[in-house]
Amino acid sequence: MAKKPQIFVTQQFPDAVMARVERDYDARLNDTGRVPNAEEIVSRTSGCDAIFCAPTEKFTADVIGRLPESVRLIATFSVGVDHIDLAAAKARGIAVTNTPDVLTDATADITLLLILAAARRAYEGERMVREDRWVGWDPKMLMGIEVTGKRLGILGMGRIGQAVARRASGFSMEVHYHNRKRLPKDQEQGAIYHETADGLLPHCDFLSINAPATAENYHFLNQQRIALLPDGAVVVNTARGTLVDDDALIAALKSGKIAAAGLDVFEGEPRINPGYRNLENVFLLPHLGSATIETRNAMGFKCLDNLDAFFAGRPLPDRLV
Ligand code: DGY
Repeated sequence: MAKKPQIFVTQQFPDAVMARVERDYDARLNDTGRVPNAEEIVSRTSGCDAIFCAPTEKFTADVIGRLPESVRLIATFSVGVDHIDLAAAKARGIAVTNTPDVLTDATADITLLLILAAARRAYEGERMVREDRWVGWDPKMLMGIEVTGKRLGILGMGRIGQAVARRASGFSMEVHYHNRKRLPKDQEQGAIYHETADGLLPHCDFLSINAPATAENYHFLNQQRIALLPDGAVVVNTARGTLVDDDALIAALKSGKIAAAGLDVFEGEPRINPGYRNLENVFLLPHLGSATIETRNAMGFKCLDNLDAFFAGRPLPDRLV
């Protein structure tokens, strides 16, 4: 029987995925129960042909430079690849694959959940009930912001942005967007294109951040850009925490310039800026965008499809470099 390829598996992925890993690969598992650090990634991959990793593992140029020669593929269980220095991987001849498409709907669903939760004060209401502070229906209790018919600005109209737009049309929202490239008319779904991100912001009763993290958009939503939003706007981020300057957003949530926010991602997560903790008008989730059973299985199978293709000498379905 042919020798199975050796792979380092950095996390415990869902059971159905692990069953396929163990059936088809000589898998070296990370059994520490925590995210492996740079030293562990380098030492555990010794003799491995590939790495099956999660977005929590940081593949900086330094780590990639120290990986054993035997490593020829990094298959990440994520669509976002800001944790991998793609240029360094390319320079070392290491292929990188990700998991597009399969998490689009789950992530768009969470975006709508955050839009609704932030606008309708779900955190305050849930706490009131749970803490037994609800004294009865009240005509003025926890009045939120109506979502139906409002303007939604989408920053980043890729697959997830487009799926958010489709859902928003169910709420009769007027969708505006900015994207590096304008979409072909038949994909715009009637959304209004803005050539610049700054041009989009004044049209956002709601702003949904759906752009991939890059060096250029680090702290995109800063004090100056927040000033361009209408007073009382709602901000939602399901992309990456680095797109938001947390101190600026916290100040705007305190002043009421931003009425509410819904955040699924944070710079430096799982640590979050402590300023968010005491704010009632922010709805916080622990990076759950793709966290459904169906989606997480599909993400794992996609990683495995890429690994299988690689070791069978076939083109990689989701190759980035
Ligand atoms: C991704 O795939 O990039 C998500 O953030 C993880 O669900």
